[in-house]
Amino acid sequence: MSAPSNRDPRLDQAAASDASLLASHEKLLGKQPDEKAHYSLMPLALLFAFSGLIFWAGTYLNRYSGQFDAKIFDENAHPRVGGDEVIKMDPVLLGKKQYASICITCHQPTGVGVPGQFPPLAGSEWVSGSEERLIRILLRGLKGHITVMGKDYSAAVMPAFGQVAGSQFNWSDEKVAAVLTYIRQEWGNKSGPIATEKVAEIRGKESAMKETTEEELLKLP
Ligand code: HEC
Repeated sequence: MSAPSNRDPRLDQAAASDASLLASHEKLLGKQPDEKAHYSLMPLALLFAFSGLIFWAGTYLNRYSGQFDAKIFDENAHPRVGGDEVIKMDPVLLGKKQYASICITCHQPTGVGVPGQFPPLAGSEWVSGSEERLIRILLRGLKGHITVMGKDYSAAVMPAFGQVAGSQFNWSDEKVAAVLTYIRQEWGNKSGPIATEKVAEIRGKESAMKETTEEELLKLP
């Protein structure tokens, strides 16, 4: 039986570190140990190139991946070609989106407004009443006093959403109709939809698009 001390001496090399092995190899090959040869920093240009590539790829995916939606990547889907039927977005959904994008800041998510400042839309007689008055409020904005559900509001001005010079909200007839249709059926309100054509008709009647007042509105049908 051979004792452990009789092991092949070459096996002891397993205990040698990588660095010492490299050093002794270099010595055997007659080369001067080259400290820099083992590690080198990535060239800066390459680092920039990769960072740029990753940034570009991220932007590209964000823009063109279509959220990897199965519907978009369905090779068997046949988009309809021709035909004059236009697929329209559900006005209530579009209106909800419009409401959430701007009206919500003043009239609040539940349509109750802010006491003394922004009047409520939930239960408001202006929302559920005359279409013409309601459309005008949206297109032209509103200032001065207005009584809503028995309470007086005069602290703030309602911005105009019609295509008025200088207004930041140049909404199309379709968007105006959609948001009004939405508020007329939300929060327990139960009034019919407002047609895009009706908004176009009222818009056509306006000469000067400046904020309307309660007094002016009450003269309308
Ligand atoms: C900057 C705040 C603000 C924003 C945004 C705003 N409103 Fe108003 N709104 C008001 C104020 C203030 C009044 C009352 C104006 C007055 O006192 O003359 C009002 C009044 C109204 C009225 C009539 C009164 C009532 O309560 O029924 C309606 C309808 C209305 N807003 C709908 C909307 C819709 C729809 C949007 C979004 C498209 C919107 N408002 C965005 C502030 C705002």
